[in-house]
Amino acid sequence: MNHKLTLRNVSKTYNSEEGEIKAVEHINLEVKPTEFLCIVGPSGCGKTTLLRMVAGLDYPTSGEIILDGAHVSGPSPDRGMVFQEFSLFPWRTVLKNVEFGLEIRGVQERRRIAEQYLELVGLLDFKNCYPQELSGGMKQRVAIARALATNPSVLLMDEPFGSVDAQTRNVLQEELLRIWERTEKTIMFVTHSVDEAVYLADRVAVMSARPGRIIQCMKIDIPRPRKRTSVETNVIREKLLTLLVSQYPRIG
Ligand SMILES: Nc1ncnc2c1ncn2[C@@H]1O[C@H](COP(=O)(O)OP(=O)(O)OP(=O)(O)O)[C@@H](O)[C@H]1O
Ligand SMILES: [Mg+2]
Repeated sequence: MNHKLTLRNVSKTYNSEEGEIKAVEHINLEVKPTEFLCIVGPSGCGKTTLLRMVAGLDYPTSGEIILDGAHVSGPSPDRGMVFQEFSLFPWRTVLKNVEFGLEIRGVQERRRIAEQYLELVGLLDFKNCYPQELSGGMKQRVAIARALATNPSVLLMDEPFGSVDAQTRNVLQEELLRIWERTEKTIMFVTHSVDEAVYLADRVAVMSARPGRIIQCMKIDIPRPRKRTSVETNVIREKLLTLLVSQYPRIG
């Protein structure tokens, strides 16, 4: 199946008490099937807004989002989301968290499927635990298993590793690459970390300060497995950092 995702001239304006807030503007983006796309940009530039619109949890003010030739008009199992904050249901066990999306859809085999994805993220032994019994990294693994359980074609990840320690983060990145290679998902991954983007992505989209626009898409042609500190990695990091820094306001 062709999982091409297209964002065509997408803009989003929020109405708040302070008036209109233009979050993103004129976003044009084509994400190829099985591509790993990272999005970087200053805080508040509309990265979460963008992912939420692709997830169908929010709507563009203008422009359109098309997946597999159809307009995105709401949430659907073909798009799984891993949120910025830990978002597990604290009253459900690990297994029941992963089963959630399948339960909503009335899938009979949900236990077997949930166990299969828990195995994939290495947490089958913890299936009867509650989220508060897990570390931050483990919680995000469960969130990934939950997002994968409905077998989405597109995985939307909003700074999924932002609140875990540096070592765990490296491990989770490697695990995600392994899962991506095995499951052939299309991934849109938001991060504040240029290092993370250069390690993971096929392509990095750099956004401007709010209203967020895409100022550059950079292809990362480094073969995998990548070295985090190779010369070619550093060259791309430097380019991305320069672009990003240009989007932060200067004080004084
Ligand atoms: N529901 C909402 N109502 C009003 N304004 C909103 C809403 N959600 C987001 N915004 C505004 O839209 C802008 C973009 O927010 P968004 O959360 O998408 O940014 P972000 O790039 O994800 O930031 P961060 O990197 O800090 O997570 C911000 O100015 C924010 O205040
Ligand atoms: Mg955000």
